Amino acid sequence: MNLLVTGGAGFIGSNFVRFLRRERPDWKVVNLDKLTYAGNAESLPDARDFVHGDIADAKLVERVMRGVDAVVNLAAESHVDRSILGPGVFVETNVGGTQVLLDGARQAGVKRFVQVSTDEVYGSLGPTGKFNENSPLRPSSPYSASKAAADLLALSYAHTFGMDVVVTRCSNNYGPYQFPEKLIPLMIANALEGRRLPVYGDGLQIRDWIHVEDHCRALLAALEKSRAGEVYNVGSDNEWPNLRIVSRLLEILGKPAELIEHVKDRPGHDRRYAIDASKARAELGWAPRIDFSDGLVATVDWYVKNRGWWERVRTGEYRTYYERNYGAR
Ligand code: NAD
Ligand code: DAU
Repeated sequence: MNLLVTGGAGFIGSNFVRFLRRERPDWKVVNLDKLTYAGNAESLPDARDFVHGDIADAKLVERVMRGVDAVVNLAAESHVDRSILGPGVFVETNVGGTQVLLDGARQAGVKRFVQVSTDEVYGSLGPTGKFNENSPLRPSSPYSASKAAADLLALSYAHTFGMDVVVTRCSNNYGPYQFPEKLIPLMIANALEGRRLPVYGDGLQIRDWIHVEDHCRALLAALEKSRAGEVYNVGSDNEWPNLRIVSRLLEILGKPAELIEHVKDRPGHDRRYAIDASKARAELGWAPRIDFSDGLVATVDWYVKNRGWWERVRTGEYRTYYERNYGAR
């Protein structure tokens, strides 16, 4: 298999490349990543087959696609709060970049294209019920709207051009190498530095958490076992209010609850997400394996042991790592 992974220097992408090196050691995996603020060359397992570039660069994409059997598109602007401050780049990368990749894949005769999406395309739930693949798309933020647009574009290439495209929609991931702007790594890093933990609004918003390795296993199953033109939800049946997660993190770290500070709510904040992943379980033979309490303790442990990784992110030092390490090549 000759696989193109995009966004492989990000949180899920770097975990996915590492997972594939272990699970499919004979595959050639090319990793295309722009190294935006969220891309970190220090997260890569190695420098093998790394291409530094933009998924919206049609010429580069045409070159990279030659000889590729399948694509897993993880490259994206991924942070909701940033999409509220500046939506433009979300449309450029998440919509425009996905379209360039789809065209490139089509021209190169790529056999399968996995578009990695999110439960946020469905919008927000009330206190009961779960999203299934037929739930209406009601994205609330510029981020989720750009992801919904990309999903629809990808599915249109399946419908119009007969391309083999599959869309996966996963819930909130946690685990190692997550950028410390997202809830769990931000709270761990702040607690370790004795800083306040900013909880938006009342903190009773609910997210459905899944370990990144379980998501990686689902992506591999989607790549190998899914039906063309289909959408698969991925989730772990693991709903938690934000405040409970933050309190649990403080407990694991042995830090005082007084560090919690309620701050202004996120504009348009989705109240609750919950995923029905029964289709992926039935059709892909996939099931999550990592228990949340074990996964959370292991994740805290990773951030404690890899303090240098997130400290270099916070100081900005990580941004020069690529040049320092690979610059001479
Ligand atoms: P991330 O922000 O950690 O990583 C994104 C990566 O994409 C970075 O390495 C960045 O450099 C790269 N990138 C951004 N723009 C690019 C461009 N124009 N060209 C090439 N590379 C570019 O994001 P993540 O959390 O790892 O999410 C990966 C994907 O999974 C995204 O599509 C996201 O929507 C989706 N997703 C994330 C979650 C989650 O909880 N994190 C859940 C469901 C789906
Ligand atoms: O559901 C999948 C999505 O999960 C992915 O598509 C996104 O890429 C990913 O970023 C994530 O989006 P969220 O907005 O749910 O994740 P975030 O970590 O930003 O926030 C999780 C919850 O915690 C959310 O309700 C907002 C809240 N929060 C977040 C931050 C950063 C706080 O209360 N304080 C904070 O400082």
